[in-house]
Amino acid sequence: MSTTTKTAPIRLQDHRIPSMPTATKVRYGDGRVLPVGGGLWLYRKAPLAPARDAKSHARALEVGDPIAAAFEEIAAETQYTTRRRSMARSRYRPFHLLLTNLPRRYSPPQDSRIPQTLQNWFGDERIQDRGLLMGTKLNDTLGGSDRSLRDAFDSVATSLATAEVPMADYQADLEDVDAMYTRSGFTIPTPKDFHLAESWWAAGGSPDATILPHADHLHVFRTVAGVQAAARMDVNSCADWPTGIEGHHVLRMGSVHGLDLPFSAAKNHLSAWATSLLDKGAVMISIRGKVEPSPITHKELRRQRERYLRDIHTARAEGRMDDQQQDEMLATLESVEGAYSSGEAFPTLVETSVVAAFTGHGRKRLDSLGNGTAFEIASMDNRQDLALAESWVGSPARANPNLMDLPSSAVAYSGLPSLATVGDARGINVGFTVHDRQEALMSATKSSDQDIYPIGAIVGSSGAGKTQHLAYSAFQYALEGRPVIVIDPKKGSDLSPAFGEKCTTFSLDEFAGASGGLGGSGGTGVCDPLRFSKTPADGINTAVSVLHDVNLWPHGARQNFEADLQAALKYGVSKGAKAIGTALEIAKRDGEASKELTDPILRQSGNDPMFGAIVGLQDEGEVLSAAEDITYIKVGNANLELPPMGVDQKSLGLTQRISAALIRMLVFGSAEALRGRRGVMMLDEAWVFLGAGAEEMERLGRLSRSLEVYPILFTQRISDLLEANLTNHIARGVILHIKDPKEAEAAFRLFGVEPTQSRMDATTAPERIGKGGANWKSRKPLFSYNDRDERTSLLRGAVGLYCDLDDRAVDVEIKIPPDFLARASTNALDRAKREGRQVI
Ligand SMILES: Nc1ncnc2c1ncn2[C@@H]1O[C@H](COP(=O)(O)OP(=O)(O)O)[C@@H](O)[C@H]1O
Ligand SMILES: [Mg+2]
Repeated sequence: MSTTTKTAPIRLQDHRIPSMPTATKVRYGDGRVLPVGGGLWLYRKAPLAPARDAKSHARALEVGDPIAAAFEEIAAETQYTTRRRSMARSRYRPFHLLLTNLPRRYSPPQDSRIPQTLQNWFGDERIQDRGLLMGTKLNDTLGGSDRSLRDAFDSVATSLATAEVPMADYQADLEDVDAMYTRSGFTIPTPKDFHLAESWWAAGGSPDATILPHADHLHVFRTVAGVQAAARMDVNSCADWPTGIEGHHVLRMGSVHGLDLPFSAAKNHLSAWATSLLDKGAVMISIRGKVEPSPITHKELRRQRERYLRDIHTARAEGRMDDQQQDEMLATLESVEGAYSSGEAFPTLVETSVVAAFTGHGRKRLDSLGNGTAFEIASMDNRQDLALAESWVGSPARANPNLMDLPSSAVAYSGLPSLATVGDARGINVGFTVHDRQEALMSATKSSDQDIYPIGAIVGSSGAGKTQHLAYSAFQYALEGRPVIVIDPKKGSDLSPAFGEKCTTFSLDEFAGASGGLGGSGGTGVCDPLRFSKTPADGINTAVSVLHDVNLWPHGARQNFEADLQAALKYGVSKGAKAIGTALEIAKRDGEASKELTDPILRQSGNDPMFGAIVGLQDEGEVLSAAEDITYIKVGNANLELPPMGVDQKSLGLTQRISAALIRMLVFGSAEALRGRRGVMMLDEAWVFLGAGAEEMERLGRLSRSLEVYPILFTQRISDLLEANLTNHIARGVILHIKDPKEAEAAFRLFGVEPTQSRMDATTAPERIGKGGANWKSRKPLFSYNDRDERTSLLRGAVGLYCDLDDRAVDVEIKIPPDFLARASTNALDRAKREGRQVI
């Protein structure tokens, strides 16, 4: 529903537009703006959130709610004595929405702990600065009575005199409008927000850049040298200018009109035309208009009904319309009227002007940009400078001849306040959002500080990029100054080249016992829960549970032994034992435990270094501890045998049961080793841990919260967790490529993301189709290939759906810096290159 009306041409001098590119005389810290044209405006900052990338349709709609609410409030407090549009119109409040979207070079977050590293890594990265301001013209208490006086005053006011504008007149309305915005979720713009709004045309530099208007574009010179260079040429024919004039760029201003949106009374409909504009390269969208209360629109519709019906019938009679068209138009009329009469309609924005700016000369004409969208764009020929002036904060200039009447929902739910942003305010770099190029951060401490579910989960099939992400994150957390423990249970894996000096590496075979996994001397107890637990009670519980799972007793005896074991350990500990082995020895010696109970355990500990790491045979001895930077635990030559995925761990063979138990003790031991140090514990191939069952997840959740440790689990499988209802400890994570649709859906459910068809497709899509080129839809890292089908170069990193603590889920490109990737890659060819090996 929109109508387009033509207005008389506007000239710059009519509006006392200053030569300086601003319409502002004074801007106050609270968001008040005193413009050159008189009156007083109040600007507020609109909250931005992912709409296109929202978790669900309902979420996407919520993003527009603050703006819709602001329009409702403005309409509700507009006072009118008559419902006649022509009479009431002068009372409508003017509003201004200004969206700026400035591409710029990356700079590290202000309070980053590793600014230099980030600068080196991403200094050439292009990101976007996005801001959305909404302004409303304030009413003075004297109403319109002394308008002319005030205008006269303004026209003679100098910047010195402006401080004397009687602000008191506006005080009451200022308070009202301020409260209105606050209720709708808006905030006071910071100086940085205003700076963006007042300098976007100069690419965020000084706003007093020199502007040279040409017929259908503007030349902006940000430096004096650039101006001089242009001055030496024919300033009127820029086609002959050389490329690369210093500090020079081109803006094209267009009028957006003919918004062809299906009318909808309720906010069930998203028409993301603003998102389309941004996709097409808009760097600014300015929307100006007046807010009309819906009862007036209703009255107006009724008044015009007769005429409208007549028009339809005439068109029909003249053969310009067929039956179906007529029916459709009548149905539209009815539904529109119906909505307005029921009081459910959105306020109407009348005389609405939408102006957008694009950069560059562009190969495409501006008016072709509207193709395939719900709007048209007209180049604002010969009024480019005025169009720019119209977008200025508080500006009285109006340059757009194409005005529209729209339901305010068409603006609120246009995608204008949509920004694909995700992650925490501080932390390590996860990557950059695919849409909108926002840096996504992950904090190590936010979940423990805010007392939310503490565990992070990175889910993806083999080759999806989990281990690379693990290495990259661990490295950054260490750079932040946190202790990090990385448990890497994958045989043959070695990430120590990636970590370099930041790392103390332990190989399980040396760590757990000197025998290299061939049997023989065990009992080191480096992961003995009685040694690493803070309280004996905790240690005893963990020990009972781990021995129960390993189950060394004859078939069927396990149930009977559990209580005995508990009692035996308790007795041993009360006599001063500090390891499982010594506790059991004491209990046996004093007749508190049977040989049948203790001997299988003691024997296995002596023979098997992996089991011996869990059951210490001496009280004194090394225990798992965390170094300053990264403590990296790899398998090495140890006899660690991970159980197969998706198999009930109770049915495993002994070696696999012991291996799974050791991983669990490494996890709990690491958490204890990081106690209170705000560190990070990472576990690769974490399905081994997750398969262990409910109790272990509960324990890890509880422990990491109380110990202030952030555990991150990297896993191929998540469905077990979901089936066991164990998801309530996992609050955030990243979904990478998942081959199996069932697992993909489980991952979406884990984080409460709507498993739409397009999401499922993107998550399961392979990195190439057959032997073809890269499949850009895929989440997997993408490469180009030579004619021997070998990878030649990286095209794009892995793309993960980052599900954060604020209930957002947004696609992020994990951009691992090339020098780090070269050291970390687990790809066989990359490793061979790194290790200087020839491969055939
Ligand atoms: N973000 C990334 N950027 C570039 N290449 C990546 C990225 N993630 C993974 N890779 C490539 O894919 C390979 C497999 O990744 P990896 O992390 O080992 O997968 P997973 O652990 O999920 O099986 C790596 O060796 C590397 O070559
Ligand atoms: Mg891996």
